[in-house]
Amino acid sequence: MIEEETKKVEEIIEKDDSEKTIDNLPGVGEKIAEKLRNAGYTDLMAIAVTPQSILMEETNLGDTTCRKIIQASRKELKMGFMSGAELQKKRLEVGKITFTSENLNKLLGGGAETQAITEFYGGFGSGKTQIGLQLAVNVQLPKSKGGLNGCAVFIDTENTFRPKRIEMMAEAAGLNPKKVLENIKIARAFSSDHQMLLTEKIPELIKSGFNVKLVVIDSLMGLFRAEYIGRGTLAARQQKLNRYLHQLQRLTDRFNLAVYITNQVMSKPDIFFGDPTQAIGGHILAHASTFRVYLRKSKGERRVAKMVDSPCLPEGEAVFHVTDQGIQDGE
Ligand SMILES: Nc1ncnc2c1ncn2[C@@H]1O[C@H](COP(=O)(O)OP(=O)(O)OP(=O)(O)O)[C@@H](O)[C@H]1O
Ligand SMILES: [Mg+2]
Repeated sequence: MIEEETKKVEEIIEKDDSEKTIDNLPGVGEKIAEKLRNAGYTDLMAIAVTPQSILMEETNLGDTTCRKIIQASRKELKMGFMSGAELQKKRLEVGKITFTSENLNKLLGGGAETQAITEFYGGFGSGKTQIGLQLAVNVQLPKSKGGLNGCAVFIDTENTFRPKRIEMMAEAAGLNPKKVLENIKIARAFSSDHQMLLTEKIPELIKSGFNVKLVVIDSLMGLFRAEYIGRGTLAARQQKLNRYLHQLQRLTDRFNLAVYITNQVMSKPDIFFGDPTQAIGGHILAHASTFRVYLRKSKGERRVAKMVDSPCLPEGEAVFHVTDQGIQDGE
């Protein structure tokens, strides 16, 4: 089953590679190809969806050249409209990864979806990391048990990945803990540039045969937040974040995989009623996440998840527990 899936993914990439490389774009010689490659543009999709000004800035190529390259990429990829029927067909391929908790599954329409970015935000200890670890285990389950027969990539910016915790969750799920750990590739990111670079490497990983169906980024904003302090640099941060989020969206789309991101909250002391917290990242992140869930700690193991934003699900709340065995419904 896993072999079959891997082969399918490889076929897609191979097709991509044989027909759509930067080297056989009209007007792109060796020199330009090299400049594109040095700036990290290796596939046509990346070029096609990048604004001209950013491409110019990053490659040091002139505006006419950049415009032509972008146009040629779009033409090559036959980008344009998709019919409603085609979109529906694509939606049929959406996979869902179980959270183990039925309450959470119900809140999110069955699980964490592929072709989407799912964001959980909340205060410390609210369970964001635990859910990421649980999904990295569950994605490996067979489809009949709520998994996708796939592997996971875990980009850790806060040094909170614990193999022991994965082993405990794997055992509880009836999986072989050693194998489960082998099917998770962990990368520690030390700067926002590093975080972006690691994400850029995921297509290569898939190409090498690692059937990635889930990418966890814990946390998305930590490094961005630390590096860009103060109002003056906020615009620059948001611009970079925007580019990164597009990179993530392309991944979900191109490989039919799920992206799970965690996010911190900032307190808003000027709010007197309700929960005085808000996710960081601003509008750019709010628009990029397909599903946004707010987590809060309740008594003991109890946690409350609230659906804040979703394209088709009602707002609502779900209660779950973080236990020794992982995420569960509780009694
Ligand atoms: N083995 C375990 N058994 C029971 N509960 C556990 C276990 N391990 C962790 N927890 C619970 O999970 C909590 C930590 O959750 P988690 O690390 O997911 O928080 P977080 O939302 O990622 O916080 P942060 O913002 O600090 O990263 C602990 O406070 C504890 O309540
Ligand atoms: Mg955490």
